[in-house]
Amino acid sequence: MSDELKRGLEGVLVAESALSHVDGEIGKLVYRGYDIEDLARGASYEEVLYLLWNGELPSRAELDEFADNLAAERAVDDDVLDAVTMMADAGESPMAALRTATSMLSAYEPEADAEPEDLDATLRKGRRITAKIPTVLAAFERVRQGEEPVEPDPELSHAGNFLYMLTGAEPDDVSEETFDMALTLHADHGLNASTFTSIVIGSTMADIYSCVTGGIGALSGSLHGGANQDVMEMLHEVDASDKDPVQWAKDTREAGGRIPGFGHRVYKVKDPRAKILEEKLRDLSESSGDTKWLDYTTAIEEYLTDEGLVEKGIAPNVDFYSGSVYDHLGIPMDMYTPIFAMSRAGGWIAHTMEYQEDNRLIRPRARYTGPENAEFVPIDER
Ligand code: ACO
Repeated sequence: MSDELKRGLEGVLVAESALSHVDGEIGKLVYRGYDIEDLARGASYEEVLYLLWNGELPSRAELDEFADNLAAERAVDDDVLDAVTMMADAGESPMAALRTATSMLSAYEPEADAEPEDLDATLRKGRRITAKIPTVLAAFERVRQGEEPVEPDPELSHAGNFLYMLTGAEPDDVSEETFDMALTLHADHGLNASTFTSIVIGSTMADIYSCVTGGIGALSGSLHGGANQDVMEMLHEVDASDKDPVQWAKDTREAGGRIPGFGHRVYKVKDPRAKILEEKLRDLSESSGDTKWLDYTTAIEEYLTDEGLVEKGIAPNVDFYSGSVYDHLGIPMDMYTPIFAMSRAGGWIAHTMEYQEDNRLIRPRARYTGPENAEFVPIDER
């Protein structure tokens, strides 16, 4: 047994996985061997889910059946909608509301009694969770805006239906395609913190609702999924200040602050997902004539590159661009991380099932640094 301490488990191999691979040195991401760029540009989120959950890309007929089955599971029980309404009224954050609602969905799971070893049942449960998360999120946002939730439309795609439930209007093609692409880009990413959380929970043979609920909790932190919102907040802060973006970034660094959306535990070069979203941001900015966020992000990236940060391996990650893209789609800032969860749920479910197929309880050790042989004194004598 090695006594070498690996803080943050950096670089430690804990499982084998055929799902996704991140090559952080050259900035490459593949899902089951397919380059993320090909998938983002050529496949729908439903196709990507099928690929992750079933091991191969679907035929047209397989995809139609899969997408229909997914769409058929979108409705959530009224009790869950009531709970979502209560949380929205109480001012809960959408990420916390999603965590609570996902956990609550298990009370309405028709196969709740299935054994965790029954991976076919787990897959069906995972499908229900994935289908219902957008409904929960959109309802939360509608209630918060003083509007009635919009019922899901099974004729629309996963991406299109979410935007429809959020706004009450069917999205245009560009918005639907862009959002679908964002979902594909976020669907899986090796053993990141939230996916690892899911498989740790799954390794106890806990049910998939617990695994996804845990994943949402892990994703909510600012070092992980929360960074996309931080980037947007940064852009607003720059806008509200009397500084230009470069001066703002300079002052932040001089004060010892980090620039959100920069740096990644695995990527040492620019994140391939960031490159694709940057292109989307450029298209959306140019077609709308509103290039403010594009100008700010470009200026900050150029400045940090000139400062040698990128050369040191602190390069733009996916979050550096996703927020501005969502802003162009009219999505509120605090929904960015929940949207990330909505997509990544597919990856959490795929990894949990893959791990449970050849399960081994995950149980690492900590090096004990506390006292030895402390003498116990009963409470009344202390
Ligand atoms: N801005 C400025 N400097 C940075 C940044 C940043 N965003 N990120 C890292 N650095 C610097 C650190 O200050 C440190 O410098 P030092 O060696 O002089 O002390 C060095 O780079 C290494 O930093 P670590 O924290 O050790 O790197 P680690 O691999 O642990 O961190 C992390 C990765 C947490 C993502 C970090 O880069 C960060 O905090 N980034 C900002 C938050 C963010 O964008 N998170 C999203 C990640 S992607 C995702 O989850 C989808």
